Amino acid sequence: MDIQRVLVADAVDAACVDLLTKNNFKVDCKYKQSEEELIKNIQEYDALIVRSDTKVTENIIKAGKHLKIIGRAGAGVDNIDINAATANKILVLNTPGGNAISACELTCSFITSLARNVVPAAASLKAGRWDRKLYAGHELYGKTLAIIGLGRIGKEVAIRMQSWGMKTIGFDPIVSAEEAKTFNVESMNLEQIWPLADYITVHTPLIPQTRNLINDKVFSVCKKGVFVINVARGGIISEKDLLAALKDGRCGGAALDVFQQEPPVDAVTLEIIQHPKVIATPHLGASTSEAQVRVAVEISEQIIALTGKNKQYTETPGIVNRVVLGNK
Ligand SMILES: NC(=O)c1ccc[n+]([C@@H]2O[C@H](COP(=O)([O-])OP(=O)(O)OC[C@H]3O[C@@H](n4cnc5c(N)ncnc54)[C@H](O)[C@@H]3O)[C@@H](O)[C@H]2O)c1
Repeated sequence: MDIQRVLVADAVDAACVDLLTKNNFKVDCKYKQSEEELIKNIQEYDALIVRSDTKVTENIIKAGKHLKIIGRAGAGVDNIDINAATANKILVLNTPGGNAISACELTCSFITSLARNVVPAAASLKAGRWDRKLYAGHELYGKTLAIIGLGRIGKEVAIRMQSWGMKTIGFDPIVSAEEAKTFNVESMNLEQIWPLADYITVHTPLIPQTRNLINDKVFSVCKKGVFVINVARGGIISEKDLLAALKDGRCGGAALDVFQQEPPVDAVTLEIIQHPKVIATPHLGASTSEAQVRVAVEISEQIIALTGKNKQYTETPGIVNRVVLGNK
C-alpha cells in the first residue's frame, strides 16, 4: 500500500510520530479540527490517525480522495464510520491489545475500592469527618466474581482477582469451557451466573447482543446487593435499570468508567454519578502513560507493515474491515 502523508488528528503519544518519521513518512499533527476543517485538510493525506476525540464521519471519509487507512490508537472504533470507510475501500485499524492491562488494572482497583468504600470514606475524611462505622466494608476473599466477556481484559482481570481469593466464573460465546479453565474461570451460561455472583464485571464490546445485558430482570435474579463494574462500554449495563436497582438495594454499588453518552448529560446518568454507592471516572481505562505509548507505537507499526517499508514490521492485528484488502 502506498502511504506517504499521514495526518494525526488527536493527541496520540509522540512515539507514533517518531516511529513514522524514522520510517520516512511525512507526518502532520493538527488537533481539535472541526468536521469542516477536516473535510478540507484530509484531501492531502493517505492515512489518518485518531484517538477518541475526532469523529471520523462519512463526510470526512468521502472527502479523503487519497485516504487509504484510518487508524485508531486505542481499542474499539466507535468513533469511525466503518460502513462508510469500507464502502470507500479505506482500511480501518485499531490497537486492540495495547491498553488491555491498563483497563484491567482500573477494573481491579474498582473492585477493591467498592469492597472497602475507599472513595466515599476518603471524601468524608477530607471533608473533616471521622466516619469509621459508616464505611465498614467486606473481604473479597471467598466472594464470587462473574466476568462477562473472557477476552484480553476479562482474562487478565480473572488472573489478578484470583490472587485476592475470589472465585471466578464467566461467560463468553467464543471462549470454550476448556480454554476458560486454563485461567481458572468456570464457564457457565448467564442464567447460572446471575444468582451466584457477588460482583459482576463486563468486558464485552457494545453490540446488539450486549446492549442492556445487565438490566432490570438480571438485577432481580442476582443476589441482593450485587456489585457491578463497567470498564468496557457505556450501554452494556442499562443505566435506567441500574439506577432503580441502586435505589431499591438490589445493587449494592457500581463502579463505572464508561457511560451511554460521554461526557454525560442525561439526567439518569448524572444521578447515577452522584449516587453515594457509585464510583465514576471519566473514561480513564486506557489513560496510563504505558498504554498511550503502546497504542501509539502499535498503530504506527501496523501502518508501516501495510506499506512494506520496513521488514521489521509485518503484523497487522488491528484490521477491522479486512474485506477492503481484497479490493486493493
Ligand atoms: N475503559 C476503557 O478505556 C477501555 C479500554 C480498553 C478496552 N475497553 C473496552 O473493553 C472491552 C473489552 O476489550 P478487550 O480488549 O478485552 O476485547 P476482546 O475482543 O479481547 O474481548 C471481548 C470478549 O467479549 C466476548 N463477547 C462478545 N459478545 C459477548 C456476549 N454477548 N457475552 C459475553 N461475551 C461476549 C468476545 O467473544 C470476546 O472474547 C471492549 O468493549 C473495549 O472497547 C475499554
